[in-house]
Amino acid sequence: MIGVFDSGLGGLSVAAKIMEAYPKEQIVYFADNAHVPYGERPLDEIRGFALDITAHLITKGAKTVVMACNMSSAVALEASQNRFPDVPILGVIEPGAKAAIGVAGEAPIGVLATSGTVKSGAYEKSIHKLDSQKKVIQQACPEFVPLVESGRADSEEAEAAARDYVAPLIGEGCRTIILGCTHYPFLRRAIESAAGRDIIIVDPAVETTQTLGKILVEQGMAAYRLDAPHVFSASGDTAGFAALGSIFLGRTIDKVEKITIAHAVETAVKIE
Ligand code: DGL
Repeated sequence: MIGVFDSGLGGLSVAAKIMEAYPKEQIVYFADNAHVPYGERPLDEIRGFALDITAHLITKGAKTVVMACNMSSAVALEASQNRFPDVPILGVIEPGAKAAIGVAGEAPIGVLATSGTVKSGAYEKSIHKLDSQKKVIQQACPEFVPLVESGRADSEEAEAAARDYVAPLIGEGCRTIILGCTHYPFLRRAIESAAGRDIIIVDPAVETTQTLGKILVEQGMAAYRLDAPHVFSASGDTAGFAALGSIFLGRTIDKVEKITIAHAVETAVKIE
């Protein structure tokens, strides 16, 4: 069982890639949609949510956990890895940075992300670990997550917001743009049309899925037959998650268990 979580629907863009690449694996997905959007919340609060959710997924039996959320990956990956040293825990930021460096050439790399991820500087740090001279231009996109969560990913508002957010990156000479929030692949059409044909769009989910595959094999954890259906849970609106989630995931989500995050773990996990 692979635990995957996000603040809401966004992580389904990662879950979809994992399901496609490793069809024998069972996924247990948690959407913390009682607290979405994460992007405008204090970073400490998000770290607390992410630790609680990781603990919950491990309690449920996850052999590995994918933080399919850039915010959580930015502020809680190391804390979670320290707290649960026996379970491989992956984020999406390092894979995203690696993928972008691989294609960016000499031009600066643009990052579209939530305000919190921009504030954390996590992409810049990760990119600079690989190339300390690389120019990184970040753009916070506060309108994007609410547009996706309310089912307006394919709207004129989404197109207008994408034009506003992408223009400064193009203006700075970026030829590569990282989708630095897992909700953004669902806005890909609007982002691509704002960016134009010559811009390379990097979805960190692709590299994250490959990294996950390596871990599963190296640690001898890969499933050899699927014997259980995927499990979905949410802390907020379960019916809305099932309806929109089925569209985004491209497969029917017929049951969503409601789990209140405060009750998600038997022993509450607090940040020191
Ligand atoms: N999808 C998440 C991310 O990648 C969180 C977005 C949000 O809730 O603001 O950052």
